[in-house]
Amino acid sequence: MQILYVLSVWLHIMAAITWVGGMLFLVLVVVPWLRRADRVVAAGLMRDAGRRFRSVGWVCFGIVLLTGSFNLWVRGVHLRNFADAAWRASPFGHAVTLKLSVFIVVLALSALHDFRIGPAATQAQRQAPGSPETERLRRLASWMGRGNTVLALILVALAVVIVRGWPW
Ligand code: HEM
Repeated sequence: MQILYVLSVWLHIMAAITWVGGMLFLVLVVVPWLRRADRVVAAGLMRDAGRRFRSVGWVCFGIVLLTGSFNLWVRGVHLRNFADAAWRASPFGHAVTLKLSVFIVVLALSALHDFRIGPAATQAQRQAPGSPETERLRRLASWMGRGNTVLALILVALAVVIVRGWPW
């Protein structure tokens, strides 16, 4: 069992760093760089990079959900614990509940960004480049991306708390 557990934590961290690292690279490197590029070229690159990262992101979500559930199970956490108010109020239970709540928000925001707002912004850019509606959708998509990046950093902080306890 120990081999499976260690492998699961390794896979969990690998999926986490692939998604978080990818988000940070897009927000800190790709987007600022594309601002100086030709608008049409930039829109095409962002569309293609976004599509590619979308698949990588959802595979990472699947892996962290599976390995995270297994990690919780190995630590003796079962579904019934979430129905127990005393467990949810415990320092460990509180960290796990918060992390899963943030993860659910990240999933919802990613789904909206990846399957609604992102494609709508790409299509608007193709049909009416620079129009007020295109600019509104592009701004919304980029703010959703930034929001998810902040939530990703909060998820990692809560992960550290799950393993090492609250700092206070
Ligand atoms: C994108 C979402 C997630 C990210 C970025 C993430 C990140 C991490 C990281 C970096 C660690 C290692 C922390 C450390 O050793 O200090 C970790 C551990 C852990 N994560 Fe996640 N995680 C995510 C989703 C989840 C989900 C959905 C679950 C539960 C279903 C979960 C449950 C756990 C558990 C139980 C541990 C402790 C592993 C151990 O026993 O050492 N995580 N997570």
